[in-house]
Amino acid sequence: MTETRVLTEHDWPLWRSLRLAALTEAPHAFGARLADWQGDGDRPERWRGRLAIPGSCNVVASHDGQPVGMASGIPTDQHDVVELISMYVAPSGRGRGVGDQLLRAVEQWARQVGARTLRLAVAEGNEPARALYRRHGFHETGELGGLMPDGLRREHILAKRLTAQGVCDPPGADGADGADGADGADGTEWTTGAGVVPRHGRPTPASRSERPSAGPGGDT
Ligand SMILES: CC(C)(COP(=O)(O)OP(=O)(O)OC[C@H]1O[C@@H](n2cnc3c(N)ncnc32)[C@H](O)[C@@H]1OP(=O)(O)O)[C@@H](O)C(=O)NCCC(=O)NCCS
Repeated sequence: MTETRVLTEHDWPLWRSLRLAALTEAPHAFGARLADWQGDGDRPERWRGRLAIPGSCNVVASHDGQPVGMASGIPTDQHDVVELISMYVAPSGRGRGVGDQLLRAVEQWARQVGARTLRLAVAEGNEPARALYRRHGFHETGELGGLMPDGLRREHILAKRLTAQGVCDPPGADGADGADGADGADGTEWTTGAGVVPRHGRPTPASRSERPSAGPGGDT
């Protein structure tokens, strides 16, 4: 069974171990570099700060009790636009719908905080991630993001419009192809009683420079 859980800043050791695994195993996918979070960059207060970005929502997924994935939603400087960053599923968790659950959790949070658009940046050539995002109704905006740490590839900005969903809307009415099932129908369990809105409450605008791990290409 796969479960997702919203973290607080006290959970930083768990976030740290997944994030370091992500940057080690899939450096091609992220704007941040492993080196940015090692040595002097690897400090408890920095990890705590990362989880305490005002208005953010940080989710970890576990499969059969083993942490296997992570994702965050963060505010942007546009009040009705939020961004998905730090999406990662460890190789042992891939192909099991873990990415689907993480995306659903962040999308649910985005709707709860009143966002109308969920954006993300994906590196050129990251086809597994693109396939996942496409399936969830994200489309190419044509915008280019930052340069990746390899200095060669660029990020591409994808976005999904979050329309209000009525009780009679068929699955996929918001642009997804049906991957967005009812909350909880897939075994998802939430640690917060009121959905996935974390303790920080509504998002407040955060510039890219406020993101602790924003590298040349941000912290996707
Ligand atoms: C992208 C990622 C989050 C997908 O997670 P997941 O839970 O495996 O998601 P899915 O099972 O929906 O798989 C997504 C796609 O990846 C492919 N995939 C699944 N398992 C895979 C595996 N073990 N190896 C390679 N690709 C795989 C599938 O083809 C799927 O595409 P499809 O929908 O056309 O079948 C995960 O592969 C990952 O963390 N990759 C490295 C980090 C990364 O790219 N993060 C995203 C940054 S924008």
